[in-house]
Amino acid sequence: MSPSAFLKVENLAKAFMLERPVFADVNFALDQGEFVCIIGHSGCGKTTILNVLAGLDTASEGHVFMDGRELNGPGLERGVVFQSHALMPWLSVRRNIAFAVESRWPEWKRAQVDAHVRTFVDMVGLTAALDRKPSELSGGMKQRVGIARAFAIQPRMLLLDEPFGALDALTRGTIQDELMGIVRETRQTVFMITHDVDEAILLADRILLMSNGQDTAEGYVPGRIAEVVANPLPRERTRAGLHHLGGYYELRNHIVDFLVSRARA
Ligand SMILES: Nc1ncnc2c1ncn2[C@@H]1O[C@H](COP(=O)(O)OP(=O)(O)O)[C@@H](O)[C@H]1O
Ligand SMILES: [Mg+2]
Repeated sequence: MSPSAFLKVENLAKAFMLERPVFADVNFALDQGEFVCIIGHSGCGKTTILNVLAGLDTASEGHVFMDGRELNGPGLERGVVFQSHALMPWLSVRRNIAFAVESRWPEWKRAQVDAHVRTFVDMVGLTAALDRKPSELSGGMKQRVGIARAFAIQPRMLLLDEPFGALDALTRGTIQDELMGIVRETRQTVFMITHDVDEAILLADRILLMSNGQDTAEGYVPGRIAEVVANPLPRERTRAGLHHLGGYYELRNHIVDFLVSRARA
């Protein structure tokens, strides 16, 4: 583990039931600018880890450090996109995002906030819905507002919980491309949960494979990071060209084999 790591997770464990922790001994580190995906079956504890990194939940054991300082609660340097949107229902799309932008840059003038909001609303293709309330949007549109809001505050770290799951394939592809472009340019660090193996291969520098807690002949074994896979494909890859790259099928098969035969009992 790199001593200069931007984000460091040490011996993390979470137990809702004593003696049967969801996961234990979770250790990993992220360098600044690194894009890491975590893959594992439902219930292994991915969202719980992300919530701990966000400062929205506490671990039963272990520590999380960012820039050498232990995390203690949420902060504007970390932006979260939840699995289902978390918008303020009484505010328009524009105001939901502007609210976050104004908290991040309190000194900004109104016009600057507005221009910034428009850039990110445009990125997710919602310009026509700027003045609509969440109740007037489809599920996928609401999810896109949440994505625009997290990207707009340009946090040093993005925490994404299956952010594109509810989107149609075309929109998902566009937003994946935008995300990749933005974080490379800004050197943002990303921790993303996905169940889409190709999405992980496209976006991630490294992929954490997580197993579920399981009962074995020797007793209960908590969930853990079973393996860390470095993505060997060239960083300048595109969705369309992915399956033509040497090493793509080996990588894909390795991850699918993990999910099918090693991730749970
Ligand atoms: N607040 C809670 N109280 C009790 N059990 C919980 C709570 N939150 C999550 N769990 C349990 O912890 C496990 C991991 O949940 P979660 O982190 O959401 O998994 P994942 O995101 O990998 O699907 C699940 O078995 C879930 O039922
Ligand atoms: Mg989850």
